[in-house]
Amino acid sequence: MGAEVVIEGLTKSFGKQAIWRDVTLTLPPGEVSAMLGPSGTGKSVFLKSMIGLLKPDRGRCVINGVDIVTCSEHKLYEIRKLFGVLFQDGALFGSMNLYDNVAFPLREHTKKSETEIRRIVLEKLDMTGLNGADKKLPGEISGGMRKRAGLARALVLDPEIILVDEPDSGLDPVRTTYISQLFLDVNAQIDATFLIVTHNINLARTVPDNLGMLFRKELVMFGPREVLLTSEEPVVKQFLNGKMQGPIGMSEEKDSAQMAAEQAMFEAGHHAGGVEDISGVPPQMQPTPGVPTRMGAVRRKDRVMEIMHRLPPAAQESIIESLSPEEQRHYGVRPHRGQPQQVGARPQGDGVPSQHHGQLPADQVARIPGGGQPPRTGTHRMPPNNGPGGW
Ligand SMILES: Nc1ncnc2c1ncn2[C@@H]1O[C@H](COP(=O)(O)OP(=O)(O)O)[C@@H](O)[C@H]1O
Ligand SMILES: [Mg+2]
Repeated sequence: MGAEVVIEGLTKSFGKQAIWRDVTLTLPPGEVSAMLGPSGTGKSVFLKSMIGLLKPDRGRCVINGVDIVTCSEHKLYEIRKLFGVLFQDGALFGSMNLYDNVAFPLREHTKKSETEIRRIVLEKLDMTGLNGADKKLPGEISGGMRKRAGLARALVLDPEIILVDEPDSGLDPVRTTYISQLFLDVNAQIDATFLIVTHNINLARTVPDNLGMLFRKELVMFGPREVLLTSEEPVVKQFLNGKMQGPIGMSEEKDSAQMAAEQAMFEAGHHAGGVEDISGVPPQMQPTPGVPTRMGAVRRKDRVMEIMHRLPPAAQESIIESLSPEEQRHYGVRPHRGQPQQVGARPQGDGVPSQHHGQLPADQVARIPGGGQPPRTGTHRMPPNNGPGGW
């Protein structure tokens, strides 16, 4: 099973420029999570901070009991071996063929024989659909193949955590779906924890188990996919619909005057762009038939049912609808449009919040910054997570 990543109060700035602050979330082991956010919100900086390539100002990022923010260089080196990273451009060595590119981490970090290396490299090339392409140079293959080769290389050290930066960059929508399918198949095969950073709406809506969003230097939300996909939060809705109308502007955010002026324009009939309002939760992509069941998805079901009574009603409804009749019986829930469900034998007072702000554990759905929300409590430290199956 992949490693859990517990991030608490993580804060990063470059000199006077704050990038994001107090990011608190947990990546559940073996699940696929995606982080959304407009360009420049620090998604790549977030990934680099997770592997210790950049040093956060404060906060914790704990993997297998080691806080990589404060640990020694030696420990960091060890922890890094748990990660496979797929950078935006594949980051392949241009003068090496795919075989040598994929073999590189094995030759650098292990004492394996060339025979053993050959077995592993061919296995990973096969897993990523690159059979027979081992002699090609990166410059001779398509962008999609380069990304798959980057993934093959990320897999050779048997990572427990896989970080992916903008997998769709430079790819057409069909190739983006193919690489998404590959992520789910790889996840099913090795049960690694995934974090995919993206601004691709299709991918966000159909691939991950969990979704988060960075905006205005904060983590707006993080939680089960159903929470963000049913959210009425303007910034989340705007992003998932790709519209001009909303708080996200041309260069990240708008001031209130600009928002008012634009609102008048849209009310007068100007098209806000994007797709027509997409709402609701589309079915999640599944591993290719024949590929093993995703154990992360199996564990997630129990985990989400455990925290469900604390999720917003629309998310609850969508989760219940995604269950088979047998599963609904197993968990003792029934779909009931408009009527939030109570799960298990919880006392009435611990029921469904009418609004989820501030009521969820901080690592499941973080606060929503700005705009008339309840004031934050003094500290954003996540409450101790005691519940069975909690994270
Ligand atoms: N090494 C660095 N030194 C200084 N500023 C940086 C560095 N890396 C990123 N930044 C700044 O951090 C901000 C967020 O960048 P990035 O993480 O690349 O955004 P995203 O991936 O969300 O598009 C940008 O303003 C960028 O200029
Ligand atoms: Mg980036």
